[in-house]
Amino acid sequence: MTDYNTILVEVRDRTGLITLNRPKALNALNTELMNEVVDAAEAFDADPAIGAIVITGSQRAFAAGADIKEMSVKDFSEMSTEQFFSRWDRLASLRTPTIAAVSGYALGGGCELAMLCDLIIAGESATFGQPEINLGVIPGIGGSQRLTRAIGKAKAMDMILTGRNMKADEADRLGLISRMVADDDVLPAALEVAGTIAGKSAIASALAKEAVNRAFESGLTEGVRTERSLFYSTFATQDQTEGMAAFVEKRDPDFQHR
Ligand code: CAA
Repeated sequence: MTDYNTILVEVRDRTGLITLNRPKALNALNTELMNEVVDAAEAFDADPAIGAIVITGSQRAFAAGADIKEMSVKDFSEMSTEQFFSRWDRLASLRTPTIAAVSGYALGGGCELAMLCDLIIAGESATFGQPEINLGVIPGIGGSQRLTRAIGKAKAMDMILTGRNMKADEADRLGLISRMVADDDVLPAALEVAGTIAGKSAIASALAKEAVNRAFESGLTEGVRTERSLFYSTFATQDQTEGMAAFVEKRDPDFQHR
């Protein structure tokens, strides 16, 4: 397996696990870490033996944001010419379902990385926030868009304009996260959910994920039209034949995992 400097990568059954590993900087997202996370996630996405990807951090921090020290010396011209955050967008295009397992701080880019994932599983003491306003900037990895779609304008404005943090119970209530679990259970719970997802039909998971994301990105009519055509396309797959035959024959389905 490839050697990385800022992340740890391992495979647990059919789940690819990426652990952010810059503990001294609370997993601040610098360019090297961005490139490594995207490379590792894309490698898992291309591997038919992998059916789900979990991204996690440490107990203290999922990630405390984009690396302020790295950004502090840059000017407008460099940020825009380098398209500084653009590689992160590639995580949103993965076909394999992704789960953020969040303990501790998920601030700024850390919150945005969690929201780039399909599900967020968070510990009771996890803290979410978009505190960029305190640095004289605004969210830059999709936070103003994904947070607003996830929890609505009123709450997103509150967080983004005041820079206040939100604890996991509020994030759970508002629908920012999928599940809140005891702090010690974050990674086990995320791996269990990943295992469940990885046991389903891979093609159906990819299409289901695409359909839900369309709801996030478009209006209702276009979204329903997309869902309908993706649904019809499942009838071109062996997994549809197998899944429905298994139901009729009262047995477990034997899905293709690629
Ligand atoms: N970038 C770079 N380094 C960071 C960092 C970040 N986002 N967050 C923490 N660190 C570093 C600290 O500088 C410190 O390093 P040193 O020991 O070398 O000084 C180390 O991590 C530990 O941090 P603290 O001593 O500050 O730890 P704490 O427990 O007192 O506070 C914290 C924790 C509240 C998370 C605090 O570190 C903090 O406020 N961090 C910044 C949060 C932030 O503003 N995030 C948004 C960044 S901008 C962004 O993300 C833009 C975007 O949209 C992509």
